[in-house]
Amino acid sequence: MVVNKQRPLNPKTYAPKPLAFVNGVPLFKDAAIALQQLAAGMKKAGAGNLWLNSGYRSYATQVAVHDRQVRALGLTAGERLAARPGYSEHQTGLAADVSALGQGCVIQVCFAKTKAGKWLAANSWQYGWILRYQDGQTATTGYQFEPWHFRFVGVEVATDYRSKQSKSLEAYWGLSPAPNY
Ligand code: DAL
Ligand code: ZN
Repeated sequence: MVVNKQRPLNPKTYAPKPLAFVNGVPLFKDAAIALQQLAAGMKKAGAGNLWLNSGYRSYATQVAVHDRQVRALGLTAGERLAARPGYSEHQTGLAADVSALGQGCVIQVCFAKTKAGKWLAANSWQYGWILRYQDGQTATTGYQFEPWHFRFVGVEVATDYRSKQSKSLEAYWGLSPAPNY
């Protein structure tokens, strides 16, 4: 499934199940298993210890996340970082905001320059994860560069996505750009 500013959850209060937990944070179960595999691969490669900062977020949680970002940054910049409730990929349980213990740049653009950020961008596809909001894709995705936000699509799709050098799920699946609501 693709969730973006033109494709809300249906119903808007949708909640996935079953969930499973990674360092205490919920994800859809299949995604949680795949994230643990990603973490194991990252550790084995010497790129650090993965931490899941945010996974599944309920409609109610997204109300708070969206409010906080819009209050801090204003509507335009806030909404390039946080989806309106009912429009967040996090509500599918298939999105993961990650960081690496001790490497800093937690949920910041500079995560892209860390050892973990570089390893993840290059290797997450092998575990079924894609970097969902690439740099320079705001006109298509509606979001700023988020080097910490990965979307679980399964190994088959992630491998094909990477081999086609895709820049967004919208382009990969031939969907309309979704810069705005
Ligand atoms: N940070 C992502 C875009 C969200 O709020 O869903
Ligand atoms: Zn995210």
